[in-house]
Amino acid sequence: DWTMAAFREEAIARIRAEVGEGRVICGLSGGVDSAVAAVLIHEAIGDQLTCVFVDHGLLRMGEAERVVTLFRDNYNIPLVHVEAEELFLNALDGVADPEVKRKTIGKLFIDVFEAEAKKIGGAEFLAQGTLYPDVIESVSFTGGPSVTIKSHHNVGGLPERMNMKLVEPLRELFKDEVRALGRELGLPEAFVGRHPFPGPGLAIRCPGGITREKLEILRKADAIYLEEIRRAGLYDDIWQAFAVLLPVRTVGVMGDGRTYDHVCALRAVTSVDGMTADFYPFDMAFLGRVATRIINEVRGINRVTYDVTSKPPGTIEWE
Ligand code: XMP
Repeated sequence: DWTMAAFREEAIARIRAEVGEGRVICGLSGGVDSAVAAVLIHEAIGDQLTCVFVDHGLLRMGEAERVVTLFRDNYNIPLVHVEAEELFLNALDGVADPEVKRKTIGKLFIDVFEAEAKKIGGAEFLAQGTLYPDVIESVSFTGGPSVTIKSHHNVGGLPERMNMKLVEPLRELFKDEVRALGRELGLPEAFVGRHPFPGPGLAIRCPGGITREKLEILRKADAIYLEEIRRAGLYDDIWQAFAVLLPVRTVGVMGDGRTYDHVCALRAVTSVDGMTADFYPFDMAFLGRVATRIINEVRGINRVTYDVTSKPPGTIEWE
């Protein structure tokens, strides 16, 4: 793809000019965007770059291992794996408001990055895989008055006092372009095609207060849902699919007994850039199969619903 080949060259020149001899820390989220940013920056400045993967305890099942393995096995980029579950979950204890969650997480990410920067003898730059839609949506809602819908943690959710300068080489790109650039840079296809995953992770898929127990329940339901989507060959037709654990309990019946457990909502959407989206029209047999598995296999959930809201008026994530 000649466009991406040209973009790659220009971006590399720009990164070199911006960073000079400085050190850069790049936060890896496990998503495509930050991985592409990291590989691009590594091409530009080599070992002036250190990647940091923060496990905030809000990741999907098996995700931390997957990301760390992918990077260690495929790239010669130094990667620091920070186990910060305690730090994040303690700070989020009792926090139910979506924006407070996002701001809390954004601030802690910066604390961790700054601490890592110190450890490597100082880094003046923080690199992120921010895309154009992240920039727009954190600033205003198109067509309406200027209102923040959500503070995406890799933009508006960052604290004002931050010692590092941001390097965001993908700021002008849309998702499909980042994927094209990822292919241009030789990232594995399975990685390039991954669904987006938000920086605040499962915190924004657990409306209300977050507990370790809820996160564990959500992880199990989410893993079953994605396994069924893959098995049905639908993964690549969907922009993003995930489970949400609702802070609502309902009454059910299992065997001879009464249950009183959580509701799990399933979400899947198609989209081109994440700015608008349509709910994915699964067939009912598929949804029934997923619901049966989740209720049978995940203790703590006794009811499953499917979210048929498009964006707008809904957003893709629930918070
Ligand atoms: P919404 O929910 O705003 O999501 O319709 C649009 C896309 O952005 C992702 N998203 C985020 N990504 N940090 C990120 O890196 C964030 O704070 C964040 N919030 C939402 C979301 O998963 C969807 O793909």
